[in-house]
Amino acid sequence: MRVIGMISGTSYDAVEAIAADIELDGATLVVDLRQHLSVAYPDELHDAIAAVLPPAATTIEQVCRLDTKIGQHFAEVAATIAGAAFDGRADLVCSHGQTVFHWVEGTHALGTLQLGQPAFIAERTGATVVGDVRARDLAAGGHGAPLASLLDVLLLGTRPDRVRGSLNLGGISNVTIVGPSLEPVAFDVGPASALLDAVVSARTGGRDTFDRDGARAARGAVDEELLARFLDEPYYALEPPKSTGKELFHLQYVLDRLDGREIDTDDLLATLTALSAETVAADVKRFGVEDLVAAGGGTKNPTMMREIASRLPGVSIRTIDDYGIPATSKEALVFALIGFLTVHGLPAAVASCTGATHSSILGSIVPGTTPLRATNGALAPTSLVIRTPLPAS
Ligand SMILES: Nc1ncnc2c1ncn2[C@@H]1O[C@H](COP(=O)(O)OP(=O)(O)O)[C@@H](O)[C@H]1O
Ligand SMILES: [Mg+2]
Repeated sequence: MRVIGMISGTSYDAVEAIAADIELDGATLVVDLRQHLSVAYPDELHDAIAAVLPPAATTIEQVCRLDTKIGQHFAEVAATIAGAAFDGRADLVCSHGQTVFHWVEGTHALGTLQLGQPAFIAERTGATVVGDVRARDLAAGGHGAPLASLLDVLLLGTRPDRVRGSLNLGGISNVTIVGPSLEPVAFDVGPASALLDAVVSARTGGRDTFDRDGARAARGAVDEELLARFLDEPYYALEPPKSTGKELFHLQYVLDRLDGREIDTDDLLATLTALSAETVAADVKRFGVEDLVAAGGGTKNPTMMREIASRLPGVSIRTIDDYGIPATSKEALVFALIGFLTVHGLPAAVASCTGATHSSILGSIVPGTTPLRATNGALAPTSLVIRTPLPAS
């Protein structure tokens, strides 16, 4: 089946899309990767998203306008990658859309809202579209996150002989951990680049949106007293399953902890990079992870990767590129797999990871121009093979 998976993460830097041929061979998901495409939001849309994100107030009119504009942007990206990978004929698109609010109280997620009306994607591409992928798991008592645990568990195994962790460094960091005597567990760790990006944007008046190559953090010095203040955050002490987002970790969060104190931007970025590394390392150590596989935009930040590695001597750290999956397209692949399972009537949520009472078939289906085919009788997969990696670009 010709499938496109798409997401814009909490960093809302770009829509990541992947095109793949996916098939089920017995209980193995076999994937041939065809294309990866990353398309930044136009400035106007980027700013419109920034304007509604917490702690900002917004209006229903703005929410409606954004739902349309984001849906249309995703639709163009879907059409572009469908043209390049499948001569315009994709069977299925699974779109995560853009999270604008994730409603969490303590260790319970009560609601989650992704914008980007999937009907625009169906209209533009003719493909069946799966959207609203988090809602059902949340309705089943889960966090609707981290959904990447599906791919992580398939790739690392449910009961491997060593304790293995899969780390995603996006705006928020999340991990999935599997081991010989452990039910798979997954949760959001804390901010990876969310606070870094917020500080860089604020201190450069929006000229820069992230600390490219971690250069500024590398120049700065960690303020240990401030770092301790950041680490004193009740979220880190909560037991998993748990999830968080920009509702908690935003610019004002940093300003509140600075409490009027002046600090050099490079030093602040060094301190926040240390915070990201320290929180990841603490959870990796707590679960005794021996092998760590990293993905997400944060893997492109050498300072962050160095800070994580220096806190985890003896832990083998690789990136997911070693499994044939480019680190920045992992999440898009997750949604391609989820969409595929959904239209085959198969559950895609890992209940022990999201905290749901059971594993659900995820998403809402928007029909394309042709009727959905019945796909009864497919076996739930227990492993994943990347048969074809992406062609070198
Ligand atoms: N070359 C780079 N140097 C430093 N940071 C980077 C680099 N490339 C990406 N990033 C960081 O990764 C973030 C995007 O990562 P991504 O995995 O797309 O997160 P999300 O899923 O939240 O959108 C950027 O906002 C930025 O902070
Ligand atoms: Mg992103």
